[in-house]
Amino acid sequence: MSGRLNGKVAVVTGAGSGMGAAMVEAFCAEGAEVIAADISGKQNALAERIGSACYPVQVDVSDGASIQAMLAAAIKRFGRLDILCNNAGIQGAYGKTADYDLAEFDRVWATNGRGVFMGMKYAIPLMLESGGGSIINTSSMAALVAFPAMPAYAASKAAVSMLTKLTAAEYAAANIRVNAILPGAIDTGMTQAMPSADLAAAVKATPIGRIGRPSEIANLAVFFASDESSFVTGTLVPVDGGYTLL
Ligand SMILES: NC(=O)c1ccc[n+]([C@@H]2O[C@H](COP(=O)([O-])OP(=O)(O)OC[C@H]3O[C@@H](n4cnc5c(N)ncnc54)[C@H](O)[C@@H]3O)[C@@H](O)[C@H]2O)c1
Repeated sequence: MSGRLNGKVAVVTGAGSGMGAAMVEAFCAEGAEVIAADISGKQNALAERIGSACYPVQVDVSDGASIQAMLAAAIKRFGRLDILCNNAGIQGAYGKTADYDLAEFDRVWATNGRGVFMGMKYAIPLMLESGGGSIINTSSMAALVAFPAMPAYAASKAAVSMLTKLTAAEYAAANIRVNAILPGAIDTGMTQAMPSADLAAAVKATPIGRIGRPSEIANLAVFFASDESSFVTGTLVPVDGGYTLL
């Protein structure tokens, strides 16, 4: 099937790498026009490769003015906003609760938690102008099961899950759907930077028995972004090879 996102305009954060880049590729392949937004600059090469359906924007999702400028670019370049993927995220340092550095906690929250909140806050008025929309937040299996020594990351992702549900409830009648993807261990820049023993343990605890591919996250994002999911809102869907089953 193709053309599932024909006529739609999307913004994807964290688009320079991993899942965000896979979402941009999948959305464009399905006919969407996409703002590929990232802090790193890596979105520029992606946009160049895809062509005119993809426009790169530099964003820092911890900064509200930067998010507003990113969303304004979607309107300026493509005329509307239908889809927002709040996908950018950082893992932050490891450390048990009593030892956890407060500045690091705030840094992780600013990107992963507050960044997602601001993305929704500033996108919703633009989506209302377009007659509705679909917001897709990247949470984590760390919002479902306890990963010791990751208090900032886990708390931020649990917040993303609840913000997804409550925002879905607030705007369902206004034709804005909000859903979250809860990835398990996926082969991206984030997992490539993890200690190899931790990654090996996560893969071992995954019933399907391998690490996930970014495209396997993007497949669900396409479904949430498209009208195929028109009666689906407020859901938190694990894509984790069965990790959270056990
Ligand atoms: N990889 C996994 O196993 C896994 C599991 C669960 C959840 N996640 C979540 O998936 C999302 C995507 O991460 P990924 O795994 O593709 O990692 P990644 O590191 O490959 O990509 C993350 C991207 O976000 C960008 N980014 C970081 N801070 C930013 C900021 N302040 N503003 C804008 N962009 C910023 C980075 O430059 C990078 O390109 C994250 O929210 C992450 O927490 C990942």
